[in-house]
Amino acid sequence: MYENSRLIIDSSNIPDAGSITWRSPSNIAIVKYWGKYGIQLPRNPSLSLTLTASCTDTQLEYTLKEGNLDGKIDLDFFFHEEENEPFKIKIVAFLESLLPVYPFLKQLKLTIRSGNSFPHSAGIASSASAMSALALCLCSLEDTLFGTLKESAVFDQKASYLARLGSGSACRSIFPYAAAWGETSQWKGSSNEFAIPMENHLHDTFKDLHDDILIVSRAEKTVSSRAGHALMEGNPFAAPRYEQARARFSTLLDAMRVGDLEVFGKIAEDEALTLHALMMSSNPSFTLLRPASLSIIEKVRQYRADTGNQVYFTLDAGPNVHLLYPGDIVHEVRAFIEEQLEEHCEDGFVLQDWVGEGPEEI
Ligand code: DP6
Repeated sequence: MYENSRLIIDSSNIPDAGSITWRSPSNIAIVKYWGKYGIQLPRNPSLSLTLTASCTDTQLEYTLKEGNLDGKIDLDFFFHEEENEPFKIKIVAFLESLLPVYPFLKQLKLTIRSGNSFPHSAGIASSASAMSALALCLCSLEDTLFGTLKESAVFDQKASYLARLGSGSACRSIFPYAAAWGETSQWKGSSNEFAIPMENHLHDTFKDLHDDILIVSRAEKTVSSRAGHALMEGNPFAAPRYEQARARFSTLLDAMRVGDLEVFGKIAEDEALTLHALMMSSNPSFTLLRPASLSIIEKVRQYRADTGNQVYFTLDAGPNVHLLYPGDIVHEVRAFIEEQLEEHCEDGFVLQDWVGEGPEEI
């Protein structure tokens, strides 16, 4: 939808070198995206909270080359100050796939330096923060060179679109507090191509939510999200799953509008367990949950029953458990984590995060 062969550098009055840096956060899905088709299009609408502490800083440096439009992407890539060949190969493939949208990329020598706020081996997916940070840098670059993305809503939509092409969930990280991705009759302007902001449809309760991430294992996932999505194609539960996700999405929208934390929490937990049930019922089946993940889930349920405190769990495509709870009980919940949950975490590692205002240019 954004293909544009006119985005070619042909004027001498643009800066021939420059640098752009964005910090972009990770996000945690409440209704999950699991299953895709075509070029990174989701089988069902998803909705996520935008985090703060788990983020990626990406700096994009560019220098104008002597116009060689048949050339290839010319990139140096550094991750945490070191050249990283596997990441570089992925980024080059991504940038090459963007050439119909951004033909000018062939006219530049690019250097990208990227780094995550969380330890590299924290067992936390970084594709959402990394791809959204890169997409934002590219949109800033377009605007610097051509002045075509002055309006912030237009800028954000394009950044979300580009981020999606890098990693589906990344398209939701562009927006503050919460974002929804995927076409639904309930939301005018919703799309499979990019996410939309939820800020104006959100009760304040959800702007003050914590997400403490209990790191059960730092090990890299045995099955990638990409492979997991692909396995949904043969999953016997796929069709009813997509229906279920639509129904939950609709209920969640209402709950988040009126501030119903209980309905929100129930959906978050049901979605987490459904996601992992889908993995277990894939062919071949795979299991990313660890015994410690289940111990934590049991304790959270018990804690909620004992105290009435609104603490809910969710899971990503991995064994780590996210605890979602409102800001006014932070001290009690942190004590609970310390006393009862840290023992299930690798080296007692807990990453404290919270819902935040989204990416910033730095
Ligand atoms: C379980 O966005 O990582 O986190 O599009 O292949 O890069 P790709 O997949 P990815 O999948 C995320 C799946 C999830 C749920 C979610 O974030 O909605």
